[in-house]
Amino acid sequence: MSNHQTPALTEGTPVSAALESLRIKQLEEQSAALRNSVICAFNQLLDLKDLNTGVHSTRLAEWGMRVGQELGLEESELQNLEVAALLHDIGKVGIPDAILRKPGRLDPDEYALMKKHSEYGWAVLRMLPGFERAALDILHHHESFDGKGYPAGLKDTEIPVVSRIVCVIDAFDAMVSSRPYRKGLPYEEAVRRLNEASGTQFDPVVVRTFLSFAQAEMSTVFAAAGTSVSSAL
Ligand SMILES: [Fe+2]
Repeated sequence: MSNHQTPALTEGTPVSAALESLRIKQLEEQSAALRNSVICAFNQLLDLKDLNTGVHSTRLAEWGMRVGQELGLEESELQNLEVAALLHDIGKVGIPDAILRKPGRLDPDEYALMKKHSEYGWAVLRMLPGFERAALDILHHHESFDGKGYPAGLKDTEIPVVSRIVCVIDAFDAMVSSRPYRKGLPYEEAVRRLNEASGTQFDPVVVRTFLSFAQAEMSTVFAAAGTSVSSAL
C-alpha cells in the first residue's frame, strides 16, 4: 500500500489535486456568497420601491423550487428558478409610481408601459455574470402558453420552463394575496381560475404539479397574512 502512495506523494499529484479541489471549493463558495448578496441587494431595492413583500417573494421561491424539483429540473436550473422567482418583477423599478400604484384599471398606454417591466428586468440582470440565464427567464415570465403573452409571444415549450413556473405561481400568489384596495380570492376560486386558464395562459403540467401540493401550503399562506383560511374565505 505504502509502495503505491510514496511515488505519488513524491510527484506531488495527490497534494496538488487536494489543493486544486480546495481552491475550486473556495471559488464556488465565493461565487455562491456573491450571488446571494446580489439577490439581497436587489430585494432591498424592491423594498425601497415598496414592490416587495418579504413573505410574497419567499413563498414564491419556495413554491417554485418545489414545482421545479417535482418536474426534475437540474440543479443549475433550480438556481436560476430561485433568482427568477425572487426577482421576476425587478424591472418594475423602472415603471412610474402613478402606474404601479393606480388602484383602478390601467388605460392602454399605461398597460403598454407596465408590460415593459419584464424587458427592464432582463436588461438589468443580464449585465451580471452568472445571472444571464435567470435574466432570460425573467424576460419571459409573462409569456402565455398559447402564444398570446408578452414580450415575444412565445408559446408552449418555446417558453423557458423556469418562466412557465414563475408565471403560474406568481399569478396564483397574486390571486390569493390581499391588496390595500382588494381582498385576496378564496383558495377554491383561485384554483378554479388557474384550472380555467390551464392550457391557454398557463402550462398545464406546471398547474397540475403546483396544485398537487398547493392546498397543503395554504394554511401557511393565510397564517403569514395574519388571518386564517376560514376567515379569509
Ligand atoms: Fe411581472
